[in-house]
Amino acid sequence: MLLLPPRRLFLRPLRRSPGAAPRRGSAGPGPGPGPGRERPRLVSTPIFYVNGPPHIGHLYSALLADALHRHRSLRRPGSSRLSTGTDEHGLKVQQAAAEAGEAPSALCARVSGQFRAALAQAAVSFSDFIRTSEPRHSRAVLHFWEALRAGGWLYKGHYEGWYCTASECFVPEAQVAQSPDAQGCAHKVSKESGHQVHWTKEENYMFKLSEFRQPLQKWLHGDKNAISPEPFYHSVLQWLEDDLLDLSVSRDRSRLQWGIPVPDDSTQTIYVWLDALVNYLTVLGYPDAHNAWWPAVHHIVGKDILKFHAIYWPALLMAVGLDPPERIYVHSHWTVHGQKMSKSLGNVVDPLACFRQYTIDGFRYFLLRQGVPERDCDYYDKKVIKIVNSELADALGGLLNRCTAPSINPSGIYPPFSESYFPRSSDQVGAEALGRALREDYELVTSVTLLPLKVTNYFENFQIYKALESITACVRQTNGFFQRHTPWKLCQKNPAEKCWLNTILHVTLECLRVYGTLLQPVIPATADKLLSRLAIAPEERSLRDLTFLPRYHGKPCPFEGRGLGPDTGVLFQKLEKLRCQVETKRSQTSKNSSCE
Ligand code: MSP
Repeated sequence: MLLLPPRRLFLRPLRRSPGAAPRRGSAGPGPGPGPGRERPRLVSTPIFYVNGPPHIGHLYSALLADALHRHRSLRRPGSSRLSTGTDEHGLKVQQAAAEAGEAPSALCARVSGQFRAALAQAAVSFSDFIRTSEPRHSRAVLHFWEALRAGGWLYKGHYEGWYCTASECFVPEAQVAQSPDAQGCAHKVSKESGHQVHWTKEENYMFKLSEFRQPLQKWLHGDKNAISPEPFYHSVLQWLEDDLLDLSVSRDRSRLQWGIPVPDDSTQTIYVWLDALVNYLTVLGYPDAHNAWWPAVHHIVGKDILKFHAIYWPALLMAVGLDPPERIYVHSHWTVHGQKMSKSLGNVVDPLACFRQYTIDGFRYFLLRQGVPERDCDYYDKKVIKIVNSELADALGGLLNRCTAPSINPSGIYPPFSESYFPRSSDQVGAEALGRALREDYELVTSVTLLPLKVTNYFENFQIYKALESITACVRQTNGFFQRHTPWKLCQKNPAEKCWLNTILHVTLECLRVYGTLLQPVIPATADKLLSRLAIAPEERSLRDLTFLPRYHGKPCPFEGRGLGPDTGVLFQKLEKLRCQVETKRSQTSKNSSCE
């Protein structure tokens, strides 16, 4: 378990809003911290825009969050919650509904349902799915707005600038470039998103963001782990060196009707990003019950929405008397065959087609194994097949198959371990001389013993791909162990050889038990199949007391002698070479593509 540095408060005592919640540590209802109890945490995905169906970029954000949440829950049941949902207000959704000839509420219900179904199908184990059109959310947003207003953080001012509807934000002049559109006509685009921007001039409510440079810097300097991976932490600090202008937090209602109205001002609608960010409080029961959790919240976000989460959101929170979130984990983007994924290029990868082609666990494994948060990753169909076949079907599935095959394990039990064949010794050379285990076998024992802690550290450092890499390396090592000792050549009628054969099988099954347990957050169905085959009961699959090879340490092994599970089928069916490419959704060119 990681120990977190003591957190500081960054609030201005004089302007603390009356609507602000009690400070951290104050008593609140629900599963709050108690003596000796570690605080439970919320892991959040971004909430998804409903102007288009889910694609693999969305799925990636959600899988990272799901794997982290599952890993924590396996370490300490009840210690984690996972929130996700849909971002339904704003100009982008209003325009998408108009283009589809649909009422915004109907479009939202339809597409939100698609997201919910896709995430459920992907085995994303969310505890809450929030829709920003729900009454509980408007209540939270209105309360938050009132806290900002009462704290003196809002003022009405004239605002003009380039507005990027795709990103739902104003773009500074320096970030705007001239670019030809599809017809070759010049238009202005945001350098960051590549989307068209429009000059917008209106009277808005402004949030005094400019006053938060120092508190934000202080927060970040005081907690180097607040944003990871590290390059993103430095980007945010760099942004804070630039101009930090006040933020427009409402839109003229005549242009934006699809949103929450500003209280007592019928001419304005609350800015969709302010509305959306508050979802993280809504799911915790804000304004009544959030103190039991806040700020023990870990946001998973794509790099494109980092500024909103690492600058605007913490500043807004400080303004209403709340701490910034404990962690912001940032990931980069998926490109497809070297190109940015976009509706206009017709190369958007549909997750449902991928599930059909590669299975749910196969595709979860691929995205989490290949996705490196620090840099953009490229998607190729062939790559999915190669990785999944070699690591899941061949290395892991093959190993299980080999050590449970009736020819080698006719009694179908978790065989006994013999200490005399695999003696424990601090002096491995001496142990080798006594038993039949070799130096490499002791290295295997060391690697697998250290693996659970290594994996936990990788998960907590948001390096799930490294966790999978190290599990794969151990699976390879175990295959090497099995191969090295050629157990199929041992004579089962000879008691000494049988004893050594059982020991080899015992060590291999123990390795597989550790891999199956550690892989549960990433490939839940396959891990369940593996552990069931090893006859490991559901209550024996926790990460809390995962000890490898207790017999080697002179302790009893509860699994020894147990009959193996009845499912003798293949653990992971090898994927066939693609008969056809995974469907990519070709849709009409749209100015407001969600994935661009
Ligand atoms: N609605 C906002 C988030 C509000 S959170 C308070 C939004 N939605 S989104 O649907 O456009 O994006 C949701 C997530 O998908 C973001 O984390 C974004 O980075 C991620 N991805 C979108 N395209 C992506 C790729 N091509 N690759 C990986 N993730 C990407 O932004």
